[in-house]
Amino acid sequence: MSALFEPYDLAGLKLPNRLVMAPMTRARVPDTVPPAQMALYYAQRAGAGLIITESAQVSPQGCGYLCTPGIHSEAQIAGWRRTTDAVHRAEGRIFAQLSHVGRVSHTSVQENGAAPVAPVAVAAAQTSVQAFNAKGEPSQVPASQPIALDLAGIRGVIDDFRRAARNAMTAGFDGVEIHAGNGYLFEQFINGGLNTREDHYGGTPIANRLRLLLETVDAISAEIGSTRVGVRVSPFARLADLHAFEGEEATWLALAGALSQRNLAYVHASHLGTSAFQALFRSAYCGTLLLAGGFTPETAAQALADRDTDLVAFGKPFIANPDLVERLRNDWPLAEAGREAFYGGGAEGYTDYPSYTPEAWAVPA
Ligand SMILES: Cc1cc2nc3c(=O)[nH]c(=O)nc-3n(C[C@H](O)[C@H](O)[C@H](O)COP(=O)(O)O)c2cc1C
Repeated sequence: MSALFEPYDLAGLKLPNRLVMAPMTRARVPDTVPPAQMALYYAQRAGAGLIITESAQVSPQGCGYLCTPGIHSEAQIAGWRRTTDAVHRAEGRIFAQLSHVGRVSHTSVQENGAAPVAPVAVAAAQTSVQAFNAKGEPSQVPASQPIALDLAGIRGVIDDFRRAARNAMTAGFDGVEIHAGNGYLFEQFINGGLNTREDHYGGTPIANRLRLLLETVDAISAEIGSTRVGVRVSPFARLADLHAFEGEEATWLALAGALSQRNLAYVHASHLGTSAFQALFRSAYCGTLLLAGGFTPETAAQALADRDTDLVAFGKPFIANPDLVERLRNDWPLAEAGREAFYGGGAEGYTDYPSYTPEAWAVPA
C-alpha cells in the first residue's frame, strides 16, 4: 500500500491518510460571509486527510482581493460554522487558513479607502490584485502604496490574528494555519531586502524580522493551544515583488528552528527551492512537515517513502476531483480543472465536479 494511505496522528487529530487539501482561494464569497455553497464544496472533499481552507482575512485591513471570506465578524463565524459542520458530518477534518496580505492590497478593498499596511512604505511593483478600478468596476489593479505599521499597528495585527483563531475555534474548526507565505504581510517582515525598519521588528538581525510571525504564533498558541496551529511558508517563491536577500537561507532555517521549539500541529512549505535546501529545512524543523506544490501521486508517494515529508498537500487536483483520495487509492482516472473556473463565478467549476462514484452529500441550506 502506498504511504499516501497510511493514517497519521497530527498532534492527537487522527488523519485517515496523508493527503491534505491545500488552501485555495476560489473567490466566490461576494460579501465576505462563507455561503452554503462553500459548505457543499468542502464537504465533497472531506475524504482528504485534512482540508486547509482558502485564505480568510483576520481583519478588513488584511483583505487584498474581492470575493474572499473574512473571519472577524459574527456573521462570518456563522457562515464558517456551516462549512465545518458539513465537513465533520462527512467525517472530515478542517483547518482555517488565516491571512493578512499586508501591502498586496488596494485602497478600494480597504475600510474607508485607507492605505494598506506593510513593514515599510514601499509598494509592491508589478503586483496586481482583484479590486475596484477608478470607475468602481471589479478589475485587476496595481497594489496601492502602503503605509508602514507603527508599534500600535503591529500589536493590532497580532491581536487580530489571536481573535481570528478564537473565532475559528468558535466556528468549529479543528485548528488554524497562519499564512506566512506568498509575499503577504509576514513574509514582507521576514524579507531582509524589503524590511529595513529600524526598530526591533526589522533590519539586519534575523530575530527582528521573524519577531512579528513568532509573536503571532505565540499569541494564537496561548489562545487555542499550540498543537492546533500550523504555519505556511513559501521560501524562494518570489511572489509579490519580494526578492532574494542576504542571509536568506539562514533566515528560513532560523525560523524552522524557532518553530521547532513551539510544539505546533505542523509547518507547511511550498517552494522550498532546491532539494538540498529542502533537506536542510527538514532537519532544521523537528515537527510534522507538510509539503505542497506540483506533486503527482507518484512523486507524493516517493516523498513520503523517502521521509522527505510527513504529509503531502495537493491543490489543483482537488478542484476537479472531489474524491481525489478514492481515485488515487483505486487508480481511477483524474479529471482536469479548467483554469477559467479557479476564481469567481458560481457552482460551475466549483461544486459541479462529480465523484468517480457519485454519492449524495446532505448539506443544509
Ligand atoms: C486557485 C488557487 C488558489 C490558491 N489560493 C491559495 C490560498 O488562498 N492560500 C495559499 O496559501 N495558497 C493558495 N494557493 C496555492 C496552493 O495552496 C498550492 O500551493 C499550489 O496550488 C501548488 O500545489 P498544486 O501543484 O498541487 O496545485 C492557491 C492555488 C490555486 C491553484
